[in-house]
Amino acid sequence: MRIIRVALLGFGNAGKAFGELLIKNEQRMKEELDVKILVTGVVTGTRGAIIDEEGINLRKVIDDLTETGRFSKDTKGLCNMTTKEVIQEANYDVAIEITPLDVFTGQPALEHIIMAMKRKKHVITANKGPLAHEGKYLKALSKSQNIQFFHETTVMDGTPIFNLVEETLPFCKIQEIHGILNTTTNFVLEEMAKGKTFDEAMTEGRKRGFVEADPSLDIDGWDAAAKLMALMNVLMETNLKPQDIHRTGIGNVTAEDIAAASNEGKVIKLICKGRFEGGKPVGIVEPVSIPLKDAYASISGTSSVVSLVTDLMGTVTITEHDPEIEQTGYGIFSDLIRLIKKTQ
Ligand SMILES: NC(=O)c1ccc[n+]([C@@H]2O[C@H](COP(=O)([O-])OP(=O)(O)OC[C@H]3O[C@@H](n4cnc5c(N)ncnc54)[C@H](OP(=O)(O)O)[C@@H]3O)[C@@H](O)[C@H]2O)c1
Repeated sequence: MRIIRVALLGFGNAGKAFGELLIKNEQRMKEELDVKILVTGVVTGTRGAIIDEEGINLRKVIDDLTETGRFSKDTKGLCNMTTKEVIQEANYDVAIEITPLDVFTGQPALEHIIMAMKRKKHVITANKGPLAHEGKYLKALSKSQNIQFFHETTVMDGTPIFNLVEETLPFCKIQEIHGILNTTTNFVLEEMAKGKTFDEAMTEGRKRGFVEADPSLDIDGWDAAAKLMALMNVLMETNLKPQDIHRTGIGNVTAEDIAAASNEGKVIKLICKGRFEGGKPVGIVEPVSIPLKDAYASISGTSSVVSLVTDLMGTVTITEHDPEIEQTGYGIFSDLIRLIKKTQ
């Protein structure tokens, strides 16, 4: 049986959801893929690291974290190695980068990924920052290092976009991308259309867990811009950063704007668009009034949508309906399965 060693760089909500799937599917992976996954490294920002070449007991680690927020002191392999030490020194085949996003630099995840790739380790990430800043470079580096690099979870959790293009749209050139990619703004605009003020919509969103304590990255369009850049840099081979594009958030959208749109049979959505103009890549994130009969008008709550305009297959549109954390875990898990199959 093939053994694949995995190092988890970051182990928060996404990591735990992925870990649950790994535990649940352990037997099936053995039977169907003849593979045993050994998690040999887990590293966090403030809770220390665990290194165990024989395989970390993921069930215990998840339970301890859930119950106490910490690794229990009796955890085998518990140590104070830094993330960089783990990347450089641990024994693993695949690094899974799931540290928090820095939308303005992509760091430290970008450096983590480059370090792992330079050691010729396969990489999976759910963090869109590195792709939004250096997606083209990372794709080229993974190719030159002859390793696999998958990142399905970065834009729409486990909903296939990158994998769909790479596996099922051969020879297609992606000419344009559009979508509704940020769920917080989608939720707030929808609540405002129902008659709530901006502040009331934000309060409701916080109550229901859609709105972060600091929502500015969503409201100002940074999160949407980073997702658009991740898509453009990989699928259209552009070399842009979130700071390079035209970005208008929803902070200035008023109840009057929404009522005026409604009177015309329209609804306001934060729309992302990427295309080439005169040979140059252009990215736009801005609130747009769209007709109620447009399919995008029905994208509600935490759902999102992406349309890929291709030369050979026309326009392909993919919708993700009301994702939960399990779909984030599945995105990482599906990348791992793809990696196993690609390296058989
Ligand atoms: N949650 C989702 O639904 C979702 C969906 C798609 C994509 N993503 C992406 O997935 C990534 C992880 O999200 P999450 O929700 O799991 O975040 P999270 O719950 O905040 O967990 C982040 C983890 O990274 C650790 N960490 C922080 N800095 C680190 C460092 N320098 N080195 C190693 N570990 C470090 C944290 O440890 P401490 O807690 O000890 O600091 C924690 O274990 C993010 O980039 C996010 O954008 C998340």
